[in-house]
Amino acid sequence: MLAARRTSTFTESVIREMTRIASMYDAVNLAQGFPDFPMPDAMKQAACTAINGDINQYAVTWGAPVLRQAIAEKYRRWYDMEVDPDRDVTVTCGATEAMASVFMALVEPGDEVIVPEPFYENYGPDAILAGAHPVFVPFDRPDWTLDPDRLRAAFSSRTKAIIVNTPHNPTGRVLSRDEMSLIAELCIEHDAWAITDSPYEHMIYAGHHHEISTWPGMRERTITISSLSKTYSCTGWRIGWIIAPPAQTGPIRKVHDFLTVGAPAPLQAAAAVGFAFDAEYYNQFAAHYKDRRDFLCAVLKEQGFEFAMPEGAYFVLADFSPLSDLDDVTFAKWMTQEIGVATVPGSSFYSRKEDGRNFVRFAFCKKQATLDDAAERLSRLRARV
Ligand SMILES: Cc1ncc(COP(=O)(O)O)c(C=O)c1O
Repeated sequence: MLAARRTSTFTESVIREMTRIASMYDAVNLAQGFPDFPMPDAMKQAACTAINGDINQYAVTWGAPVLRQAIAEKYRRWYDMEVDPDRDVTVTCGATEAMASVFMALVEPGDEVIVPEPFYENYGPDAILAGAHPVFVPFDRPDWTLDPDRLRAAFSSRTKAIIVNTPHNPTGRVLSRDEMSLIAELCIEHDAWAITDSPYEHMIYAGHHHEISTWPGMRERTITISSLSKTYSCTGWRIGWIIAPPAQTGPIRKVHDFLTVGAPAPLQAAAAVGFAFDAEYYNQFAAHYKDRRDFLCAVLKEQGFEFAMPEGAYFVLADFSPLSDLDDVTFAKWMTQEIGVATVPGSSFYSRKEDGRNFVRFAFCKKQATLDDAAERLSRLRARV
């Protein structure tokens, strides 16, 4: 018996494959974007307290009230955005489930969804599973900016939505106010949704994080997605959320209910503790990541990689063509085996694999000791290529 055809149109995540190869060769894993340092102690303690306090049964399907309240308060505090915790918020199993649920709830088969490219690899399968037709718009090198004319040309009466991922994985771009304004203008003109994906919203080294929902006329056409995973260094907790107008929240909650019933109850209770952290936590968090970015970028530059300095998130998408003529997959595997540093081949972030041929993505969400180890190994690269 064959599996459904839709599953053959996307492959297993290349990122997880690179992680497997990294452990085979005992390489430093700068491929997968998870921190190798602990999450905040107060949240760990709160999770233990919740479990010991018997918060171990299903939470309310669309999220524990204490967490939805904390999410609403966060958006008011950070972005001056009014959110009704009862009517607008759905807590999900990470931003991953959030995006899949939104696609299934709002996108009809055949609808076009605009995806700026390179893109986080999940958007492809999300679109396929919903029967949507992705329309890719390139970020322009060297700075990964969006060309206004090309963006405008991608919109049409068939456009249902655009994915707005800022800070951006894999380029580290933070979209500017002008880029957000143009996206808002085009969504309004073409009656399309802006579906945001902002798990890196608190990792900004240049510019500002903007929530497009706060643009005039956008509140009723924005689906806001974010997650706990990166902000509190707990990618394994699997908690994210969706903020949407009440008319769309209903269908989204139905899909979410049938897919998962709900996110882990004790971890939802503990998540609310993180939301109460003061500005000092977020300032230190961003400052730590900026130091790691500066460190890794200096190492890569020294070895001859070319890249735009990431403005946010924790990735560097580096062009290795000054170093090697190999294609990205061969180069990434060679580097894992021979140099001992694992990365993600650039083609995983492109619809046409050849567009990513000269890139590999490095993640710097690692302890300084891990980055020191990677730097030491990478110092041998230039001599080996
Ligand atoms: C752009 C982007 N969106 C979503 C996710 C997934 O987040 P979560 O762990 O909340 O599912 C990631 C994780 O790497 C990401 O880079």
